[in-house]
Amino acid sequence: MATMESLIGLVNRIQRACTALGDYGGGDNAFSSLWDALPTVAVVGGQSSGKSSVLESIVGRDFLPRGSGIVTRRPLVLQLQRTEDGQQDYAEFGHLPRRRFTDFAMVRKEIQDETDRITGKTKQISPVPIHLSIYSPYVVNLTLIDLPGLTKVAVEGQPESVVEDIENMVRSYVEKPNCIILAISPANQDIATSDAIKLAREVDAAGERTFGVLTKLDLMDKGTNALDVLEGRSYRLQQPWVGIVNRSQADINKNVDMIAARRKEREYFATSPDYGHLASKMGSEYLARLLSKHLESVIKARIPSITSLINKSIEELESEMDLLGRPIAVDAGAQLYTILELCRAFDKIFKEHLDGGRPGGDQ
Ligand code: GDP
Ligand code: NA
Ligand code: MG
Repeated sequence: MATMESLIGLVNRIQRACTALGDYGGGDNAFSSLWDALPTVAVVGGQSSGKSSVLESIVGRDFLPRGSGIVTRRPLVLQLQRTEDGQQDYAEFGHLPRRRFTDFAMVRKEIQDETDRITGKTKQISPVPIHLSIYSPYVVNLTLIDLPGLTKVAVEGQPESVVEDIENMVRSYVEKPNCIILAISPANQDIATSDAIKLAREVDAAGERTFGVLTKLDLMDKGTNALDVLEGRSYRLQQPWVGIVNRSQADINKNVDMIAARRKEREYFATSPDYGHLASKMGSEYLARLLSKHLESVIKARIPSITSLINKSIEELESEMDLLGRPIAVDAGAQLYTILELCRAFDKIFKEHLDGGRPGGDQ
């Protein structure tokens, strides 16, 4: 278990290093195929389905921009890294290395500013991701990608093409076979009309890598419940559906904090006449643990293929370093070196893992 924790941590670090290097030209190289081979979780859903709320619950912090319309206009690659108990949590952006944010209101502001920096103040969207790492004793190791919400109509000031542009951007993430799809649908809408499920069904027809998340259970009409969805009768997935109760807009306006919100959510399920029997498998804390465990098992199952990719990357990197001698950019050289070191560390841990135990078995 401890080994797997550090494996996800290493995957996170390689992803960060690959990204930083991507800024120096990137393109199709050893790192992009390595990045694609590493599993990530993409958050997908219609506008206002509760994507940001779910992410904030998983992190246990308020840090995402809010508002109506298309708030998320660039992908946000969010890497959660668990730290030792008692440590202060902090955040770091890929575009601002070495600056530590401990004020999460400033994280929100920086996401907004950095979005505007690329898209202008217009409502344009951009596929260029923002990279954010959060270090905290309260998170599980996980990489999540927040994507713009799927929408059916363009709003004022947006080109008509925005609807299709968003769908294509989201699809470019979820169609990758290593992408785990966190498909968010609100319980107060018919699941048959869910944008998230529609897209997930398209790219993952067997439901093997889709996690169905049902938000807004508290907003369903009185006398109705979501058991048909939660128990897998409405839309069957290989993974269990997870029901969620996020903060309402009124809660947010009253500044109900995340800790109180998590407690309220736990109470909701524990005392619910409809969902009481499912209480231990509902809620955002359960979802975070479920995803982290799944990510671990996916990495474990892919050890042989990731190892061979890493060895290929190491070879390519070494010859690239030889060729360059003096790297084009000093930072690029340093990043190359970092990736090389990380890949070697990765390879070593993988080998130990393979030698020391049954690959794919429980440790
Ligand atoms: P996004 O557009 O998908 O990121 O959705 P948000 O997370 O921003 O949520 C949109 C609105 O729905 C906000 O006002 C939230 O407070 C509210 N909301 C989200 N999830 C729930 C929920 O489970 N219950 C209630 N009552 N409100 C929710
Ligand atoms: Na939806
Ligand atoms: Mg959002």
